[in-house]
Amino acid sequence: MSDLDHLIKQNSEWAANVKQQDPDFFNRLSKQQKPKILWIGCSDSRVPANQIIGLPPGEVFVHRNIANVVAHSDLNCLSVVHYAVEVLAVEHIIVCGHYGCGGVAAAMDDAQYGLIDNWLHHIKDISRIYAETLANTPKEKRADVLCELNVREQLKNVAESSVVKKAWEQGKELTLHGWIYSIKDGLIRKLERIEK
Ligand code: CO
Repeated sequence: MSDLDHLIKQNSEWAANVKQQDPDFFNRLSKQQKPKILWIGCSDSRVPANQIIGLPPGEVFVHRNIANVVAHSDLNCLSVVHYAVEVLAVEHIIVCGHYGCGGVAAAMDDAQYGLIDNWLHHIKDISRIYAETLANTPKEKRADVLCELNVREQLKNVAESSVVKKAWEQGKELTLHGWIYSIKDGLIRKLERIEK
């Protein structure tokens, strides 16, 4: 069985390279993290948060799940938002979806996949709310449109969360951004921005 030794080797090479460029890097980061950004994105392996926005370790707090869902009762996601806003005092929360999202595609068909169907119900709910919009969208564009609607809806859920409401009531600087990433060209498009 492989011990994934190539990854351990790549890691030591990476660490040596970072140290060579910035000898104090790890020492500095070990003392504290002060990211200004919370990223909520999809678990998809093709959408790695830090890499696609060109940020090194320490610059972005990250939460990822299938189809970048922000469910009102998901304690995991809400705890991340809570910690990011109240402890780290991030100034921006990005919900970044992506075209070609497998989670969104799976929510659009009637096939049964098992446990994940329950999670994908969050997306199915959105397609029900926007049934008319989707029906009026050419079939080949429907999945992309639902990916965008999903970002907008999840961003609304962030805005409606008790944590964000409280932060705005307290006059904290906090802006919410809805973005969508294209796997085909590596580019991000802005969809929406919400301020208090
Ligand atoms: Co996805």
